[in-house]
Amino acid sequence: MLTQAPKGTRDMLPQDAYLWQWIEQKEREAAAKAGYREIRTPVFEHTELFLRGVGDTTDIVQKEMYTFNDKGGRSITLKPEGTAGAVRSFIENHLFQEALPCKVYYLNAPIFRYENPQSGRLREHHQFGMECFGGKEPAVEAELISTLLGFLTGLGLQNLKVHVNSIGCPVCRPRYHEALKNYLGERIHDMCETCQERFQKNPLRILDCKEEKCKRIVAGAPLILDCLCDECRAHFEELQALLTAQNIPYEIDPHIVRGLDYYTKTVFEIIMQAGREGLALCGGGRYDDLVEQLGGPATPAAGFGIGAERIIMELRNQNLLPPAPTVTDVYVANLGTDLKIPAFSLAQALRALNVKADSDLAGRSLKAQFKFADKIGAKYVAIVGGEEYDRGVVKLRNMETKEEREIPLSSAPSDIARLLS
Ligand code: HAM
Repeated sequence: MLTQAPKGTRDMLPQDAYLWQWIEQKEREAAAKAGYREIRTPVFEHTELFLRGVGDTTDIVQKEMYTFNDKGGRSITLKPEGTAGAVRSFIENHLFQEALPCKVYYLNAPIFRYENPQSGRLREHHQFGMECFGGKEPAVEAELISTLLGFLTGLGLQNLKVHVNSIGCPVCRPRYHEALKNYLGERIHDMCETCQERFQKNPLRILDCKEEKCKRIVAGAPLILDCLCDECRAHFEELQALLTAQNIPYEIDPHIVRGLDYYTKTVFEIIMQAGREGLALCGGGRYDDLVEQLGGPATPAAGFGIGAERIIMELRNQNLLPPAPTVTDVYVANLGTDLKIPAFSLAQALRALNVKADSDLAGRSLKAQFKFADKIGAKYVAIVGGEEYDRGVVKLRNMETKEEREIPLSSAPSDIARLLS
């Protein structure tokens, strides 16, 4: 137990850090180009926020939240998603009084869900998300989708298809609930227990059921797209026109309902090409009523979230992971105890010139220092010592070609820096 991470969690190891940093850099660039600024909200919030925000009939709230009472007796929940916290912050910090739309992103924020750990499903994962507050136009969703695709294709991912749907608004959704309940009413006894409960509280959730027998029944259910009000229909059509104008490949998927209750009008997902079937790489949509529901002024909004672990999984499956950068470019070896100081000083002088340099920290023999330099993939080893040192030079060995040359110790930092540039 002591040396085992909790089920469903993963360490980010030093050898993978560059991947996360690379992805984060691309996320920052993509978001900044579209005028989004970073927001960071706490890892935990009051439980009430998620009960009201995410919806108390959702799987996330019913089964998956990490909730506990703190020492002050308050019910606290580790963030099971990023949107509710961003909305809370938007309201609490009066961001609605600033220029709207207010566009924010969060960078690989830790998210906690008590899920059944399996490939691509973790109990702690990390989301990059973008949220736009104060834009009612379908251009908001088009901008989000196009920014997202720009980011993903910038990583090298290809053949990405966006699945879009509209799930209507409080005007047209009751009409759809009615039609759905009429259809399901005669069949509900052949469905799973969870669907029977959902039938009363939130029939839309039934469309999301993964049970085969339920899926068969759902396949013949009326479609929400046939029940949209004029406003929702026009919004959906304009979004499609915007995507088409940008040559963004999309598919209308009338069965997307999403696992959170706050959505209105547009919902969208990108499904992973590789890996487990049906796993979403990304999910998002419009949530025009959430800000008001949580106590803020009525503010239309939309956003998406994408899991870093799933991005890495998709890159790995498509063989697109970039090679790891070298840990150090120059390893400065010393040939004996009395040369430790000049060797250390040379490494420091190289660092001052922005060269990745390292020297012995373990009191090793020259042979062992070479072995270490080889293990960490150093391009060069500079040897400080011997009669070369007495002559005021260092020996520089190219670890790949094994070629050796002498350079004056006095100009070694700038000579080596030049060699690497
Ligand atoms: P979501 O679809 O629940 O949406 O999650 C978004 C993304 O997070 C998924 O597409 C997936 O990449 C990743 N993800 C979710 N659960 C897991 C898990 N257990 N393990 C690994 N990755 C996972 C939301 O959370 C919404 N807040 C998105 C949003 C933002 N909608 C509007 N704004």
